[in-house]
This record gives sequence, structure tokens and C-alpha cells, in this order.
Amino acid sequence: MAGKQPLKQGEKLLFGIFGIFLVAAVIGYVALEAFRLMSDKPMFEVRTHYTFTEQGKQGSRIFREARCTACHRAMRNGTNMGLNLDGIGSKRSEEWLLKFMRDPEATYGAPTLDHGFAPKEAAYVSSLPLADLEAIAAFLSGLKSDQGAASSPLPPKGASGFIDGALETFAPEEWKDKYRDIRE
Ligand code: HEC
Repeated sequence: MAGKQPLKQGEKLLFGIFGIFLVAAVIGYVALEAFRLMSDKPMFEVRTHYTFTEQGKQGSRIFREARCTACHRAMRNGTNMGLNLDGIGSKRSEEWLLKFMRDPEATYGAPTLDHGFAPKEAAYVSSLPLADLEAIAAFLSGLKSDQGAASSPLPPKGASGFIDGALETFAPEEWKDKYRDIRE
């Protein structure tokens, strides 16, 4: 048996680079957490809210029990594997939501990833009892977004340097005649 071999030049370099990344990640994490704990403002402004009917509250329970949170985020619960559904009630109508859950591909008019027919992972959704799907649709349509949220169809109120800059750089000249600036 050969004795312990010294590290080769390339190995030293590889471990060295990995070490630098690891140290940078740890420092970054500690700095971020320290900043977050000391700051009295929340790091991200919450720009979604919800109002539920009785049926919507029931739907919220079914939503969790039916494992929707395995892929979706709603009311800051769940995962980001699928779409974030916070604010969806400002984008889609209750009828649309129900229609999508029962017949996803026809409603999208395009192939879907997880909803649809077996063996897609969320194929089970369309065969849930109709009353459950109606309650879930009521729940989802109660998830509203404030103006200016990423999920809102309306841009933030007032002037925004970011939006003005993006328009300046990317918007074709003829858009100025074609579209109206709806910001207040
Ligand atoms: C395996 C992951 C997965 C599960 C479980 C799942 N979804 Fe989805 N969902 C997705 C993905 C991915 C999309 C995007 C459409 C697609 O490609 O299937 C989506 C899209 C949606 C949409 C349309 C959003 C939009 O505006 O386009 C709704 C509504 C929805 N899901 C509701 C639900 C509900 C309710 C449940 C539980 C009963 C559920 N989903 C379970 C992955 C999942």
C-alpha cells in the first residue's frame, strides 16, 4: 500500500477555490442575518393581502390538505416549485381559476407541466370533488395584490426611476404613440 499522497497542484487549487467560496458564503450569510436582526424595517415589503368569504376559508383548509402547498406558495406558506399564488385573485377571476383546475391545458391553451392528465404530478387536482374545487377557487380569488406588487396588473403609483430607465432603454420609439402611460 502506498503512503498518503501529497495533494497535486490542481487539487490544491480546486480546494482553495472551494474554500474561498465557502468562507465568502458564511461571511455573507452572517452579515445578512446581522443586518436583518438590527434593521427595524422588514427586508421585503409585503404587497399582497387577502379577504375571505366562509367558502374561501374552507378552501384554504382544502388547499393545504390537498397538497397544493407542495408546489405553490400562498399566504407565505408552501414552496416555490410551482407558481406563487399570492395575489392571483387580482389577476384571474374565480371562474377562470375553477376552469383551470378542472381542465388545465384547454384553459391555458398550451401544454402544461404538472397540471393536466396523468402521469403529470398534479393530475389529481382535476379529479377532486367539484365542491372542493369551488371552495379552492373562492380561496384563491381572495388572494389579492396591492397596486405595484409583482403579481399586480397595475404598476406602482407615482414616478419610478427604474421603470422610466427601462422604458428609455428598451421601449421602441413607436410605443409612445401606441400605448398610454397609466401611472398616476
Ligand atoms: C406537482 C406540483 C404541483 C401541485 C401539487 C399543484 N400545482 Fe398548481 N401549478 C403547478 C405548475 C407547474 C403550474 C403551472 C402550470 C403547469 O405547467 O402545470 C401550476 C399552476 C396552477 C394554477 C394556475 C396559475 C396561473 O395563474 O397560471 C393554479 C390556479 C394552481 N396551479 C392551483 C393548484 C391547486 C389548487 C393545487 C392543489 C389542489 C395545485 N395547484 C397543486 C404545479 C403544481
